Amino acid sequence: MPFNGSSRRLFIGRKISCAAMPLTYYLWASPDCVPKDASGKFFAHFRFHMANTILVGMQWGDEGKGKIIDVLTARTDIVVRSQGGNNAGHTVIHRGLKYVLHLIPSGILRHRKICVIGNGVVIDPVALVTEIDGLRRLGVNIDKNLLISDCAHLVLPYHRLLDEQRELRRGRIGTTKRGIGPAYGDKAARTGLRVSDLMQPIVFSKKLQAKIVENNRILQALGAKPISFRDVNETYLAAGKKLRPYVTNTVVYLHRAMDRGKQILFEGAQGTFLDIDHGTYPYVTSSNTTAGGACTGTGVPPHRMDRVVGVMKAYSTRVGDGALPTEDAQLAQMFHNLGREFGATTGRKRRCGWFDAVATRYAGMINGIDEVAITNLDGLDQVDPIRICVGYQLHGKRLDVPPCDATQLANCEPVYEEVAGWNTSINRARKFSQLPSAARKYVRYLSELAGGKLSMVSVGPARGETIVL
Ligand code: GDP
Ligand code: IMO
Ligand code: MG
Repeated sequence: MPFNGSSRRLFIGRKISCAAMPLTYYLWASPDCVPKDASGKFFAHFRFHMANTILVGMQWGDEGKGKIIDVLTARTDIVVRSQGGNNAGHTVIHRGLKYVLHLIPSGILRHRKICVIGNGVVIDPVALVTEIDGLRRLGVNIDKNLLISDCAHLVLPYHRLLDEQRELRRGRIGTTKRGIGPAYGDKAARTGLRVSDLMQPIVFSKKLQAKIVENNRILQALGAKPISFRDVNETYLAAGKKLRPYVTNTVVYLHRAMDRGKQILFEGAQGTFLDIDHGTYPYVTSSNTTAGGACTGTGVPPHRMDRVVGVMKAYSTRVGDGALPTEDAQLAQMFHNLGREFGATTGRKRRCGWFDAVATRYAGMINGIDEVAITNLDGLDQVDPIRICVGYQLHGKRLDVPPCDATQLANCEPVYEEVAGWNTSINRARKFSQLPSAARKYVRYLSELAGGKLSMVSVGPARGETIVL
C-alpha cells in the first residue's frame, strides 16, 4: 500500500481476536475508502487503531521504567525512544540475567518486537555499537528489530569533554558526563551533526573537521586537551558503518506501522523533574522528558496517542544535584545497606526520600497521566510508619505545587502525613488481594494523590514480580 502519512482512512485486513484487544481501542471506517470486491461486497477493510501508549517517569528518573516497559511490551508491537541519550539506564531482569539498556529501547528482549530510536534521541554511535555488541554477547537478537532515525543528533567526544569540564566548575549539575547537554546545545544552536551526516562519510568528515577546530579552541581555553580529528573521524565512521543497516526515516516507518494497526509504546527516559522545561531547572537534563516529548521526538502527532502511563517509585530517589525536598538520610542508608538504589548508568549512590505527592500531582498534570504503575513497593517492607509528603511549607506559606525557582524549592519544608507500614515481605504477591491491607491502602492513596488510575504494582525487579490490576 502506498504510504499516506496523515490518513486516518487506511485499512488493514488482519484478524484481531477480542482477547488481544486492549481496553481502549477505536474503530474507524470510512465508506468512501472501503474497497469492494468484484461482486460489489465490502471487504472487511477497516482500520483498527489500537492503543498507543506514552510511558513517562513521574519523579527524578530511575522510577523502574525499564521493568514496566518490558512488562508492557508483551502487549505492543513497537517500542520507541523519543528523547535523551545514553544518560539513561533502564534495568530489565529476565531469566535471572540483568540487562541495563542505555540507548536501545527496553522492548529489545522480547521476540518479534520492533525497537526504534527516534529523531529526538541524541546518539553516541560508539556507545550504541558497544551496547549492541554487549546485548548480542548475552544472546539478544539485534537485526531487523532495531531502527535508528536518520534525523537523530550525534554525541561527539567534544560534547563529553565539555560536559566533564563544566562539571568541574561552580554550578555543577551532577550530570552523567555522557555529553548530553552539549549535544542538545549544538542541536538547538543548529550546529549539530546528525546520523544522516554520519551516513555520508565525505560530508561527515568535512563537518566534523570544522566542529573539532571550533571545539578544540574552547577545550583549550578551559584547560583541557584538544582532540584529534583523525582519531574521531576514523572511530565514528567505523561505528557509522556498523549502524548503517538500521538507519532509516523512522517517522515514515512509525506512520506506516500505525496505518497497519500496530501498537506503539513510547518509552520515556529520565523523569518529569529532569525535564528541561518543567523540571527543577537548572538541575535537569536537556530534553523534554514529559509526555509532549514523545510527539516531537518521534514525529507521531498528539491525536494518535491514546493513553499516558506514569511510573513512580513508592518513595523518591534522585541521582545528581538539585533539591529533593523529602530527602531522608536514614531511608537512604537503609536502601544502600540492602544493596538498592545505586545508579544504573554511573553506579552513583542515589539520594533517597519519602514519596512526594506535591511533585507527583504536578507530574500528573503536566503529563496528563491516565494510569500509574507503582514500583519498588517491596522497598518499604520494613518501614513503619511511612511518610508521605502532601504539601510544602515555604517561609510560612503552604504550597501545593513545586515552585519554579531552584533556591525556593531547596528551601521548601515538606509537610508529612504518616501511614502504617505492613512489616512483612510482599515479594511473592501476584494479585492485588494478596498484598497486606496497609500496602493496598498505601498504593491506592499514592495513585489518588498523583491523579491516575492504579494499573500496576511492582513488588520485585523481575518480570513476574508484577501485579496487574
Ligand atoms: P529506570 O531508569 O526508570 O528504568 O530505572 P532503573 O533501572 O535505573 O532503576 C530502577 C531499579 O529498581 C532497577 O535496579 C530495577 O531492577 C529495580 N526495580 C524496578 N522495580 C522494582 C521493584 O518493584 N522492586 C525492586 N526490588 N526493584 C525494582
Ligand atoms: P533514566 O532514564 C536518573 C540526571 C543526572 C543529572 C541530570 C543531568 O535511567 O531514568 P545529564 O547527563 O542528562 O546531562 O544529567 O539528570 N539524569 C538521570 N537521573 N535517571 C536518568 O535516566 C537520568 N539521566 C540523567 O544525574 O542530575
Ligand atoms: Mg535509570
